[in-house]
Amino acid sequence: MASLVELLAKKRDGHVHEAGEIRRLIAALGTGELTDYQMSAWLMAAFLRGLDERETLELTDAMLESGVVLDLKDVPGTKVDKHSTGGVGDKVSISLAPLVAACGVPVPMVSGRGLGHTGGTLDKLEAIPGFRVDLSIDDYRRIVREVGTCMIGQTREIAPADKRIYALRDVTATVESIPLITASILSKKLAEGIDALVLDVKVGRGAFMKDLVRARALARSLVAVARRGGKGVTAFLTDMDHPLGLTIGNALETAEAIDVLHGRGPADLTEITLVLAAEMLVLGKVARDEAEGRAKAQAAIADGRAAETMRKMIAAQHGDPRVVDDLARLPRAEIVRVIPAARAGWIADVDPLALGLAGVEMGAGRTRAEQAVDPAVGIVLRATKGQRVEAGAPLCEVHVRTDAAFDAVAARIANAFTLGDAEVARGALILETIRGV
Ligand code: URA
Repeated sequence: MASLVELLAKKRDGHVHEAGEIRRLIAALGTGELTDYQMSAWLMAAFLRGLDERETLELTDAMLESGVVLDLKDVPGTKVDKHSTGGVGDKVSISLAPLVAACGVPVPMVSGRGLGHTGGTLDKLEAIPGFRVDLSIDDYRRIVREVGTCMIGQTREIAPADKRIYALRDVTATVESIPLITASILSKKLAEGIDALVLDVKVGRGAFMKDLVRARALARSLVAVARRGGKGVTAFLTDMDHPLGLTIGNALETAEAIDVLHGRGPADLTEITLVLAAEMLVLGKVARDEAEGRAKAQAAIADGRAAETMRKMIAAQHGDPRVVDDLARLPRAEIVRVIPAARAGWIADVDPLALGLAGVEMGAGRTRAEQAVDPAVGIVLRATKGQRVEAGAPLCEVHVRTDAAFDAVAARIANAFTLGDAEVARGALILETIRGV
């Protein structure tokens, strides 16, 4: 049998691993036989040489098997989750999970925190007073059964090998690898006890994948590996060249997601939520096709069932459910300053990356995993791409704790807006759909 060092050399030299070899590496990482620096060497080799589909599946399975696969057999129905690769203003999960659950499809969701310029669902949910994401597996299972959805963070039991490998990738410049991202995302998602998965692969400046070619390759890889793992799966490639919705920042985004549940959310956010919900209802076998799924989701918003499921989920997770009907109960920054348009014109561009980075600088996001976030601060767009503005009209509001905090980000935020002399269209929201059937 090849030694562990010989396995590292094999990938370094561009060979394909035989079945079982990647499992051995991950198992050896768990026992301590393979050190972090040896794993890092293999990760760099895999980053440069690539992994084929079978190797990626084996890596996914090995990372999945490093922890527990949650058993949700006592929850009736086809369990479906959604995962987004992350963007700026992407608060879709917060409205989507209760909406889909209200339509009869259980949504067990293990989410992440914001890192870099992208926000995280857990940070947004924690803006709700009292809301807890660190529940036990037993509570998680019970809440999915009783409410239809529960949103928690990655526990120690879920894919511990991914946690360790992700920390190594973060500091060894090996994050942006399609097979490594595929295995990382799916090892966590497949541990949730789901039957099917909808993926929102974001494309553009505000996303991980900046161009359509790379995003498509990631989506295809995720779909292929999830399918071989026996799950129903659909990936949507969606636009992240403009912030999603009108808000950036934790409490502001949670409020906007609640607006979607009341049927008063912005058009782009509502549309993505409905498209993803419709697909989840089809995969969850309560709708025959997208049109029926969409109609069911719209009905659950219109008759209040989606908002009611949100209240129940918040209460079950120790939060204050009154926020659903009274957004003023969410934390608010003391100071709201407006950035005005320097001249009249058409909004030709709103750079999501610039606004995401400004949000991090204001304290809405983090640059290191252990940092705390400020739930109240953020940005509210008052103009979006394609709109006409007059000189002095508000481009956005900046919610801050101090005047100094505003001064620190004002120029960066103003520069994120480009004004032109001709009308420009916003562009398509859903760029492509890749179904795993
Ligand atoms: N999200 C993950 O969970 N893993 C990656 O590798 C990238 C994004």
